[in-house]
Amino acid sequence: MRKTKIAITYEKGGVGKTTTAVNLAAILAEKGFRVLLVDLDPQSYATAYFDLYNDLLPSITGVMMGKNDVKEAIRPTRIENLDILPGSYDFKDIETYLMMKTRRQEYTLRETMTDVSDLYDFILMDCPPSGNRIKTNALAYADYVLLPTIPDDYAIHGLLCMANELVEIRQGVNPSLDVLGVLVTIYERTANKRAYTEALQGQDIFPCFHTLIRKNSALSAAINAHKPINLYARRSNGCTDYTALADEIIQRLEGGDTSGEN
Ligand SMILES: Nc1ncnc2c1ncn2[C@@H]1O[C@H](COP(=O)(O)OP(=O)(O)O)[C@@H](O)[C@H]1O
Ligand SMILES: [Mg+2]
Repeated sequence: MRKTKIAITYEKGGVGKTTTAVNLAAILAEKGFRVLLVDLDPQSYATAYFDLYNDLLPSITGVMMGKNDVKEAIRPTRIENLDILPGSYDFKDIETYLMMKTRRQEYTLRETMTDVSDLYDFILMDCPPSGNRIKTNALAYADYVLLPTIPDDYAIHGLLCMANELVEIRQGVNPSLDVLGVLVTIYERTANKRAYTEALQGQDIFPCFHTLIRKNSALSAAINAHKPINLYARRSNGCTDYTALADEIIQRLEGGDTSGEN
Protein backbone atom coordinates (compact mmCIF):
# COMPACT_ATOMS: atom_id res chain seq x y z
CA MET A 1 0.00 0.00 0.00
CA ARG A 2 1.20 3.47 -0.86
CA LYS A 3 2.27 5.76 1.99
CA THR A 4 -0.70 7.93 2.82
CA LYS A 5 -1.17 11.36 4.38
CA ILE A 6 -4.64 12.09 5.67
CA ALA A 7 -5.91 15.45 6.97
CA ILE A 8 -8.76 14.98 9.43
CA THR A 9 -10.69 18.15 8.97
CA TYR A 10 -14.09 19.83 9.08
CA GLU A 11 -15.15 23.40 9.22
CA LYS A 12 -16.37 23.33 12.80
CA GLY A 13 -15.31 21.95 16.16
CA GLY A 14 -16.86 19.28 18.35
CA VAL A 15 -17.49 16.78 15.54
CA GLY A 16 -14.93 14.16 16.60
CA LYS A 17 -11.85 15.20 14.63
CA THR A 18 -9.40 14.72 17.49
CA THR A 19 -11.15 11.59 18.74
CA THR A 20 -10.89 10.15 15.23
CA ALA A 21 -7.26 11.21 14.72
CA VAL A 22 -6.05 9.74 18.02
CA ASN A 23 -7.92 6.45 17.90
CA LEU A 24 -7.45 5.78 14.21
CA ALA A 25 -3.71 6.48 14.62
CA ALA A 26 -3.44 4.05 17.55
CA ILE A 27 -5.41 1.29 15.82
CA LEU A 28 -3.41 1.58 12.59
CA ALA A 29 -0.21 1.45 14.67
CA GLU A 30 -1.47 -1.66 16.44
CA LYS A 31 -2.04 -3.27 13.05
CA GLY A 32 1.68 -2.81 12.40
CA PHE A 33 1.66 0.35 10.27
CA ARG A 34 4.16 3.06 11.12
CA VAL A 35 2.06 6.08 12.02
CA LEU A 36 2.80 9.74 12.69
CA LEU A 37 0.13 11.92 14.26
CA VAL A 38 0.63 15.63 13.55
CA ASP A 39 -1.10 17.91 16.04
CA LEU A 40 -2.20 20.99 14.10
CA ASP A 41 -4.89 22.16 16.49
CA PRO A 42 -4.03 25.19 18.67
CA GLN A 43 -5.62 23.45 21.65
CA SER A 44 -3.10 20.58 21.34
CA TYR A 45 -5.65 18.03 22.55
CA ALA A 46 -4.08 15.19 20.57
CA THR A 47 -0.73 15.89 22.26
CA ALA A 48 -2.34 16.11 25.69
CA TYR A 49 -4.17 12.88 24.93
CA PHE A 50 -0.88 11.00 24.93
CA ASP A 51 0.33 12.96 27.96
CA LEU A 52 3.09 14.53 25.87
CA TYR A 53 2.32 18.21 26.22
CA ASN A 54 5.58 19.91 27.18
CA ASP A 55 6.32 23.55 26.40
CA LEU A 56 10.05 23.09 26.95
CA LEU A 57 10.52 20.63 24.09
CA PRO A 58 10.50 21.37 20.33
CA SER A 59 7.02 21.24 18.78
CA ILE A 60 5.20 21.84 15.51
CA THR A 61 5.60 25.60 16.11
CA GLY A 62 9.41 25.56 16.07
CA VAL A 63 9.37 23.16 13.15
CA MET A 64 7.07 25.23 10.95
CA MET A 65 8.92 28.42 11.86
CA GLY A 66 12.23 26.88 10.84
CA LYS A 67 13.73 26.92 14.34
CA ASN A 68 13.81 23.15 14.88
CA ASP A 69 14.44 20.22 12.64
CA VAL A 70 11.35 18.03 12.37
CA LYS A 71 13.27 15.00 13.63
CA GLU A 72 14.07 16.85 16.87
CA ALA A 73 10.41 17.52 17.53
CA ILE A 74 8.87 14.13 16.74
CA ARG A 75 8.44 12.00 19.86
CA PRO A 76 7.47 8.39 20.37
CA THR A 77 4.24 7.65 22.24
CA ARG A 78 3.89 4.71 24.59
CA ILE A 79 2.33 2.86 21.69
CA GLU A 80 4.62 0.90 19.42
CA ASN A 81 4.75 2.29 15.84
CA LEU A 82 3.03 5.53 16.83
CA ASP A 83 4.94 8.82 16.92
CA ILE A 84 3.59 12.31 17.40
CA LEU A 85 4.64 15.71 16.16
CA PRO A 86 3.29 17.62 19.16
CA GLY A 87 1.51 20.95 19.44
CA SER A 88 2.39 23.68 21.93
CA TYR A 89 1.11 26.81 23.68
CA ASP A 90 2.78 29.20 21.19
CA PHE A 91 0.96 27.62 18.26
CA LYS A 92 -0.63 30.92 17.23
CA ASP A 93 2.84 32.21 16.34
CA ILE A 94 2.77 29.90 13.30
CA GLU A 95 -0.20 31.77 11.88
CA THR A 96 1.62 35.10 12.26
CA TYR A 97 4.78 33.62 10.79
CA LEU A 98 2.88 32.27 7.77
CA MET A 99 1.16 35.61 7.27
CA MET A 100 4.53 37.38 7.06
CA LYS A 101 6.07 34.77 4.78
CA THR A 102 6.05 35.98 1.22
CA ARG A 103 6.96 32.84 -0.72
CA ARG A 104 5.35 29.40 -0.74
CA GLN A 105 3.76 29.84 2.67
CA GLU A 106 1.12 27.20 1.82
CA TYR A 107 3.89 24.61 1.40
CA THR A 108 5.69 25.32 4.69
CA LEU A 109 4.46 22.12 6.34
CA ARG A 110 5.12 19.99 3.25
CA GLU A 111 8.67 21.33 2.98
CA THR A 112 9.49 20.92 6.67
CA MET A 113 8.26 17.30 6.55
CA THR A 114 10.44 16.29 3.59
CA ASP A 115 12.91 14.24 5.67
CA VAL A 116 10.27 12.21 7.49
CA SER A 117 7.42 11.79 5.00
CA ASP A 118 8.83 8.48 3.79
CA LEU A 119 9.36 7.02 7.25
CA TYR A 120 5.65 6.47 7.90
CA ASP A 121 2.90 4.41 6.30
CA PHE A 122 0.31 6.86 7.58
CA ILE A 123 0.63 10.50 8.52
CA LEU A 124 -2.58 11.69 10.17
CA MET A 125 -3.13 15.41 10.72
CA ASP A 126 -5.54 16.66 13.37
CA CYS A 127 -6.63 20.00 11.90
CA PRO A 128 -8.05 23.18 13.43
CA PRO A 129 -11.68 24.00 12.54
CA SER A 130 -11.39 27.42 10.94
CA GLY A 131 -10.14 28.12 7.43
CA ASN A 132 -6.77 29.53 8.36
CA ARG A 133 -3.29 29.21 6.92
CA ILE A 134 -2.36 26.22 9.05
CA LYS A 135 -5.28 24.25 7.71
CA THR A 136 -4.33 25.24 4.15
CA ASN A 137 -0.82 23.94 4.88
CA ALA A 138 -2.28 20.61 6.01
CA LEU A 139 -4.40 20.35 2.87
CA ALA A 140 -1.43 21.29 0.68
CA TYR A 141 0.52 18.38 2.21
CA ALA A 142 -2.23 15.75 2.42
CA ASP A 143 -3.17 13.09 -0.11
CA TYR A 144 -6.67 12.78 1.32
CA VAL A 145 -9.12 14.46 3.63
CA LEU A 146 -11.33 12.58 6.06
CA LEU A 147 -14.40 14.52 7.14
CA PRO A 148 -15.94 13.63 10.52
CA THR A 149 -19.54 14.80 10.53
CA ILE A 150 -22.29 14.70 13.14
CA PRO A 151 -25.60 13.60 11.59
CA ASP A 152 -27.69 16.71 12.22
CA ASP A 153 -29.59 19.48 10.50
CA TYR A 154 -26.36 21.25 9.57
CA ALA A 155 -24.50 18.25 8.10
CA ILE A 156 -25.26 18.58 4.38
CA HIS A 157 -24.70 22.34 4.50
CA GLY A 158 -21.34 21.65 6.19
CA LEU A 159 -20.34 19.31 3.37
CA LEU A 160 -21.25 21.94 0.77
CA CYS A 161 -19.00 24.43 2.59
CA MET A 162 -16.20 21.85 2.59
CA ALA A 163 -16.76 21.20 -1.13
CA ASN A 164 -16.24 24.90 -1.89
CA GLU A 165 -13.14 24.98 0.27
CA LEU A 166 -11.69 21.91 -1.46
CA VAL A 167 -12.30 23.37 -4.92
CA GLU A 168 -10.17 26.34 -3.90
CA ILE A 169 -7.47 24.13 -2.42
CA ARG A 170 -7.29 21.96 -5.53
CA GLN A 171 -7.10 24.98 -7.81
CA GLY A 172 -4.66 26.85 -5.62
CA VAL A 173 -2.26 24.53 -3.85
CA ASN A 174 -2.91 20.80 -4.24
CA PRO A 175 -4.57 19.52 -7.44
CA SER A 176 -4.26 15.87 -6.36
CA LEU A 177 -6.04 16.22 -3.01
CA ASP A 178 -8.81 13.65 -2.78
CA VAL A 179 -11.63 12.93 -0.33
CA LEU A 180 -11.21 9.63 1.47
CA GLY A 181 -14.67 9.89 2.96
CA VAL A 182 -17.27 11.51 5.15
CA LEU A 183 -17.37 9.78 8.53
CA VAL A 184 -20.61 9.83 10.50
CA THR A 185 -19.66 10.39 14.15
CA ILE A 186 -21.49 10.42 17.49
CA TYR A 187 -24.27 8.36 15.91
CA GLU A 188 -27.33 7.32 17.92
CA ARG A 189 -30.16 5.00 16.96
CA THR A 190 -32.88 7.63 17.13
CA ALA A 191 -35.26 8.30 14.23
CA ASN A 192 -33.73 11.73 13.77
CA LYS A 193 -30.11 10.56 13.67
CA ARG A 194 -31.02 7.71 11.32
CA ALA A 195 -32.68 10.12 8.90
CA TYR A 196 -29.72 12.50 8.89
CA THR A 197 -27.33 9.56 8.52
CA GLU A 198 -29.27 8.23 5.52
CA ALA A 199 -29.09 11.70 4.01
CA LEU A 200 -25.31 11.74 4.50
CA GLN A 201 -24.94 8.26 3.02
CA GLY A 202 -27.16 9.17 0.07
CA GLN A 203 -25.57 12.52 -0.83
CA ASP A 204 -23.38 12.71 -3.90
CA ILE A 205 -21.06 15.53 -2.85
CA PHE A 206 -18.46 13.17 -1.33
CA PRO A 207 -18.09 9.42 -0.71
CA CYS A 208 -19.27 8.33 2.75
CA PHE A 209 -17.75 5.55 4.87
CA HIS A 210 -20.03 2.57 5.55
CA THR A 211 -18.66 2.52 9.10
CA LEU A 212 -20.58 4.66 11.59
CA ILE A 213 -18.95 5.83 14.81
CA ARG A 214 -21.58 5.35 17.50
CA LYS A 215 -21.90 7.62 20.49
CA ASN A 216 -19.93 5.83 23.17
CA SER A 217 -19.02 7.12 26.61
CA ALA A 218 -15.83 5.03 26.65
CA LEU A 219 -14.44 7.31 23.92
CA SER A 220 -14.79 10.37 26.18
CA ALA A 221 -13.61 8.47 29.26
CA ALA A 222 -10.49 7.26 27.41
CA ILE A 223 -9.32 10.88 27.12
CA ASN A 224 -9.02 11.23 30.89
CA ALA A 225 -7.08 7.99 31.05
CA HIS A 226 -4.73 9.33 28.31
CA LYS A 227 -5.17 6.10 26.42
CA PRO A 228 -6.53 5.40 22.95
CA ILE A 229 -9.68 3.32 22.91
CA ASN A 230 -7.95 0.07 21.91
CA LEU A 231 -5.92 0.22 25.12
CA TYR A 232 -8.61 1.73 27.33
CA ALA A 233 -11.67 -0.39 26.48
CA ARG A 234 -11.05 -2.96 23.78
CA ARG A 235 -14.56 -4.38 23.96
CA SER A 236 -16.32 -1.02 23.69
CA ASN A 237 -18.40 0.06 20.71
CA GLY A 238 -15.88 2.86 20.22
CA CYS A 239 -13.06 0.35 19.72
CA THR A 240 -15.19 -1.82 17.42
CA ASP A 241 -16.18 1.18 15.29
CA TYR A 242 -12.72 2.73 14.96
CA THR A 243 -11.27 -0.70 14.12
CA ALA A 244 -13.91 -1.09 11.40
CA LEU A 245 -12.98 2.37 10.12
CA ALA A 246 -9.29 1.45 9.97
CA ASP A 247 -10.17 -1.73 8.02
CA GLU A 248 -12.40 0.20 5.63
CA ILE A 249 -9.66 2.77 5.00
CA ILE A 250 -7.06 0.06 4.32
CA GLN A 251 -9.47 -1.69 1.97
CA ARG A 252 -10.18 1.53 0.08
CA LEU A 253 -6.53 2.41 -0.23
CA GLU A 254 -5.53 -1.09 -1.31
CA GLY A 255 -8.40 -1.46 -3.72
CA GLY A 256 -8.11 2.10 -4.90
CA ASP A 257 -11.82 2.37 -4.15
CA THR A 258 -12.57 5.84 -2.87
CA SER A 259 -15.85 6.07 -4.75
CA GLY A 260 -17.94 5.16 -1.73
CA GLU A 261 -20.24 3.22 -4.03
CA ASN A 262 -21.34 -0.44 -3.73
N1 LIG B 1 -18.33 8.73 19.26
C1 LIG B 1 -18.34 9.52 20.35
N2 LIG B 1 -19.10 9.21 21.42
C2 LIG B 1 -19.14 10.00 22.50
N3 LIG B 1 -18.46 11.16 22.63
C3 LIG B 1 -17.68 11.53 21.59
C4 LIG B 1 -17.56 10.74 20.41
N4 LIG B 1 -16.72 11.37 19.56
C5 LIG B 1 -16.31 12.49 20.17
N5 LIG B 1 -16.88 12.59 21.40
C6 LIG B 1 -16.73 13.68 22.38
O1 LIG B 1 -17.16 14.89 21.75
C7 LIG B 1 -16.30 15.97 22.11
C8 LIG B 1 -15.70 16.58 20.85
O2 LIG B 1 -14.88 15.62 20.21
P1 LIG B 1 -13.48 16.02 19.55
O3 LIG B 1 -12.91 14.78 18.98
O4 LIG B 1 -12.64 16.78 20.52
O5 LIG B 1 -13.99 16.98 18.39
P2 LIG B 1 -13.19 18.06 17.51
O6 LIG B 1 -11.76 17.67 17.49
O7 LIG B 1 -13.87 17.97 16.17
O8 LIG B 1 -13.43 19.38 18.16
C9 LIG B 1 -15.26 15.39 23.05
O9 LIG B 1 -15.68 15.64 24.37
C10 LIG B 1 -15.28 13.91 22.75
O10 LIG B 1 -14.94 13.13 23.87
MG1 LIG C 1 -10.06 18.80 18.00
